[in-house]
Amino acid sequence: MPESKFKDEANTTVNIALRDDLLNWYDKHARSLPWRVPPAVRGQGVMPDPYRVWLSEIMLQQTTVATVKAYFERFTARWPDVEALAASPREAVLQEWAGLGYYARARNLHACAQTVVTEHGGRFPDTEEALLTLPGIGRYTAAAVASIAFDRPAPVMDGNVERVMARVFAVEETLPGIKPQLYELAASQTPQERPGDYAQAVMDLGATICTPRNPACGICPVMAVCEGRKAGIAADLPRKAPKKTKPTRFGICYLAVRADGAVLLEERPDTGLLGGMTGLPGGEWRELQPAEEKPPLDAHWSERGEVRHTFTHFHLKMTVMRADVGHDTAPHTGRWVSDTGGKALPTVMKKALKLALV
Ligand code: ADE
Repeated sequence: MPESKFKDEANTTVNIALRDDLLNWYDKHARSLPWRVPPAVRGQGVMPDPYRVWLSEIMLQQTTVATVKAYFERFTARWPDVEALAASPREAVLQEWAGLGYYARARNLHACAQTVVTEHGGRFPDTEEALLTLPGIGRYTAAAVASIAFDRPAPVMDGNVERVMARVFAVEETLPGIKPQLYELAASQTPQERPGDYAQAVMDLGATICTPRNPACGICPVMAVCEGRKAGIAADLPRKAPKKTKPTRFGICYLAVRADGAVLLEERPDTGLLGGMTGLPGGEWRELQPAEEKPPLDAHWSERGEVRHTFTHFHLKMTVMRADVGHDTAPHTGRWVSDTGGKALPTVMKKALKLALV
């Protein structure tokens, strides 16, 4: 695609059509989301609460809207504003986050709330640059909060927006190489008026009509300007460079069950994938079959099977060991927990418990 394509005069007309068609569609079909102010209300000057916008955008990274809704409702019921979240013990925030994955997000979420309170008087900054200085806020979240909460014309770029741009402008080269080009295109489209609604409109379009597979081009509000559709290649875009295969890592974990049914859990170290989360004791996950890890207590351990779990960058195969022990057994690590059902655990640890508790 020639670089001038989205800068020339003819294309400016396309830009206006794209923007207007999208906003008109959004006015009628905006999804109703708990953190969103609908366009008709926003049009009357009611802006969303930046705290709710920020919280939802952090949760929505790597996680679907359907999953996020319930977490969002629980978080905002328990911590209705940034002061409440900042004042909460971090452990409570991590527990409420359990199951959402990517636990660094939860640690940063808490750190960010504290920074907003201590350094910004409890108010989220309203520019992309200032938002970028906060813990856990990268380019995507800074742009999303700046545009949705403060109507700044910041280009919001996520997987949905990338897909829409690649299709509308028929960008045929492969991801991830075309990311900068797609960002440029998104930036060139971002309007000065209603940038917050526009950002949400593109994301809604990508989530509901311009979907990765089987896009509903026949009912698309921007079909008239979509180069990908005109060339009959919309559904194939964006093309992706072949994926590197994910490596497999191996681990081991130990389920010690005391005579009264209590099980031994430990808080994982702060860094790493499940940093700060509660789990079964066990060693590091390595790309070689696990060396003998030291069990958390001396007992007769027997193998109960293997759980499999896929993280973003690797598959995990974890051997689950179990030992049944008496009341007076002293562990080298962790603490006894009576009610694991009431305990918020990462999904991989739930799988291990389910396997070995039967
Ligand atoms: N996905 C992530 N953030 C979103 C938003 N604000 N609106 C629609 N979809 C989204």
